[in-house]
Amino acid sequence: MMRSSRTCVVVRSVAAVERGTVNVQRNENFAKLRAGYLFPEIARRRRAHQDANPDAKVISLGIGDTTEPLPQYIADAMAKAAAGMANREGYSGYGAEQGQGSLREALANTFYPNLRVPDEIFVSDGSKCDIARIQMMFGAKATVAVQDPSYPVYVDTSVMMGMTGEYNNAGFDNIVYMECKPENNFFPDLSKMPRTDIIFFCSPNNPTGAAATRAQLTELVNFAKKNGSILVFDAAYALYITNPDCPRSIFEIPGAEEVAIETCSFSKYAGFTGVRLGWTVVPKALKYADGTPVWNDWNRMMTTCFNGASNIVQAGGLACLQPEGYKEMISLIEFYKENATILLAAFKEMGFKVYGGNDAPYVWVGFPGKASWDVFAEILQKCDIVTTPGSGFGPAGEGFVRASAFGSRENILEAVRRFKVAFGK
Ligand code: MLT
Repeated sequence: MMRSSRTCVVVRSVAAVERGTVNVQRNENFAKLRAGYLFPEIARRRRAHQDANPDAKVISLGIGDTTEPLPQYIADAMAKAAAGMANREGYSGYGAEQGQGSLREALANTFYPNLRVPDEIFVSDGSKCDIARIQMMFGAKATVAVQDPSYPVYVDTSVMMGMTGEYNNAGFDNIVYMECKPENNFFPDLSKMPRTDIIFFCSPNNPTGAAATRAQLTELVNFAKKNGSILVFDAAYALYITNPDCPRSIFEIPGAEEVAIETCSFSKYAGFTGVRLGWTVVPKALKYADGTPVWNDWNRMMTTCFNGASNIVQAGGLACLQPEGYKEMISLIEFYKENATILLAAFKEMGFKVYGGNDAPYVWVGFPGKASWDVFAEILQKCDIVTTPGSGFGPAGEGFVRASAFGSRENILEAVRRFKVAFGK
C-alpha cells in the first residue's frame, strides 16, 4: 500500500516535470476572470499604440491617477516623520493595526460628526485593499449586488472569492447587476432587485460620476434594512460632491449604522494614489444574523491580515485633516473639479450626451450603438488619448467611455483641442 502510493506520486511528479508544471490545480475562480484587470489591459494597449507611433504624445484620461504634486504642508509632515525615524525619539515600529489614535479621531471629527466614534474607523493602505479584505471577511457563500456600471474591483474580487458562477454575455452568474443608466437617472429600480447579502454602492459613482441624492440613499438604506443586507458604501470621491442634496457619507442617512460599512481614501483627495492611505468605518451597531458585531470580525481581519498603515504616511493623513492641510487638499480637489468642468463643457459643445463631471472627477460620454472598446481604439488612434471603455465597468457601460479629470491643466486643454479636431462638428 505504502509502496504503491509512493510510486503513484513519483509517476505524477515525472509527468509534471515533463510538462514543466507543478501538481497543484489552478484556483478555478481565477480561470473564470476575463482577460486582465481593466487598467493594466488599458496600459498594455497604450504601450502597443506608443510602440506603433513612437512620436505620439499620448495623453491619459484613462485610469483615475492623480498627477499634481503633493500639497506642501502634507508633504512636509511626511518628510518630518520620515526624518524622525532616524533618531530614537522619532522612531516607531509596529503601530496599532487599526491606525494611530490621533488619525482615527481626526477622521471621526472631520467626516463623521454623526458617529464620532474613532474606534469604528480602521485606517488602511487604501480602499481597494479594504474591499478585497471585506470580501474575505464575508466569505465565498455571500451573495453580491453591484451597481452596473461600477468599479471593477467589486466584481473581480467576488469572482476570485468564488461567490460567482461563470461569465456569460450579461456578466457573471450569481452577481446581481443593478443597472444604472441615464434612463433611470443612474439609480437602480430597487423594487425589481432580488435580495443579496452584500450590496456594493459607490456615490459619486465611478465611472458615471452620478451622485445619489439623500432621498435615493434613504431608499437604499431602507432596502438593505428590509432585506437584512449589508451595504458596502464606497465614498472614495465623496469630497468631489457639490450638490448639497447629495450626502458625502452613508452615515448621514438615519439608521445606516445598522446596515452599512463605509470605505474611503486619501488617494483622490490629497494625491495619495502612490502614497497609499485609506480607511473603513464599521459601526458596532451592525450585527450579523447571530448577533455578532461585524466590527469584531473586521478587527480580527485587520489584526491578522494587516499590520497597520505606514507610520510615515499616517503623519501625512493627519496633516490632511489639520486646517492648513485640509485647505490644501480642498484646493487640489477644486483643481481636478475644474478639469472635469472643462471636459464636460467640451463634450457638450461637441454635441455628445455626457454625464457626471459636476460631483465627480469623471465624465461619462455616450457613443450610442458603438462598442466601448471600439470607441476607445478610435480615440486612441485619432487623438492619441487614452480613455476607459465603459464596458470595462459592467454590461450597462457598453456604448460609453469614461474620461478622467485627473491630469495637468495643459494636458486637459490639449486633450479637448484634439477631441474637437477629431469629433467636433
Ligand atoms: C479608476 O480609474 O477607476 C481608479 O483610479 C481605480 C482605483 O482607484 O483603483
